[in-house]
Amino acid sequence: MKAVIASIALPLLAAAAPAPVSTAPASNPPNFGVMAIHSGSPIHYAQMNAAGQKFWLGGSTSSYCPSIDGIVCPPGNQTVFAAGGNAMDVEVPGGQQVYVDPTGALSFTQAHSASIPAGSAVGGLFYEPGKPWSHYSFKGWGAQGFMACPTDDNQYQVFAAMQNATVPSGNVADCIGFSAMALTYKGDAPTWQYI
Ligand SMILES: *[C@@H]1O[C@H](CO)[C@@H](O)[C@H](O)[C@H]1NC(C)=O
Ligand SMILES: *[C@@H]1O[C@H](CO)[C@@H](O)[C@H](O)[C@H]1NC(C)=O
Repeated sequence: MKAVIASIALPLLAAAAPAPVSTAPASNPPNFGVMAIHSGSPIHYAQMNAAGQKFWLGGSTSSYCPSIDGIVCPPGNQTVFAAGGNAMDVEVPGGQQVYVDPTGALSFTQAHSASIPAGSAVGGLFYEPGKPWSHYSFKGWGAQGFMACPTDDNQYQVFAAMQNATVPSGNVADCIGFSAMALTYKGDAPTWQYI
């Protein structure tokens, strides 16, 4: 979390400085990490983490890096989405796609596989630039945004905010809607692959 907060300060500093010479158009969307916002709830300020091909609020990022000569492994402890939010920011060739599976669960593909369950929503995730905060969201199936649903082991799993989601407790009313604040991440991919 500290690393993400440090990186979001950069655009603010840059805004106060003379315009830097940039090779990229200013409109290029950034890579980003996500922090949940819902004041007064147990998930307020929780970091969104990738683990087990799904996403969670709290817990920790689950990643893997092969020990192969020539690969310098990044720390792999931070969950970062690639620009636009429909893929992960990873080094593994082929990348990892992000989608919403038919139960409503926000999901990512295994490395070296393009396999996505039939009936999933692909391409419905988006990055919404804003000042001071940008957001990550989902639109599809009558859903708008995300919700966090409690699990048996006291975690919160991330779902598209749809009434007919199949959630761990069996009751969508147990889920907490949240705003997904997108925090700009700069630098090399933070992981080889998420697992
Ligand atoms: C990730 O690991 C690095 C190196 O061990 C550490 O410096 C950094 O604080 C960690 N970041 C997070 C978000 O846990
Ligand atoms: C959930 O509802 C939406 C909107 O009515 C529909 O498009 C979608 O197919 C439904 N999904 C399931 C799994 O029933």
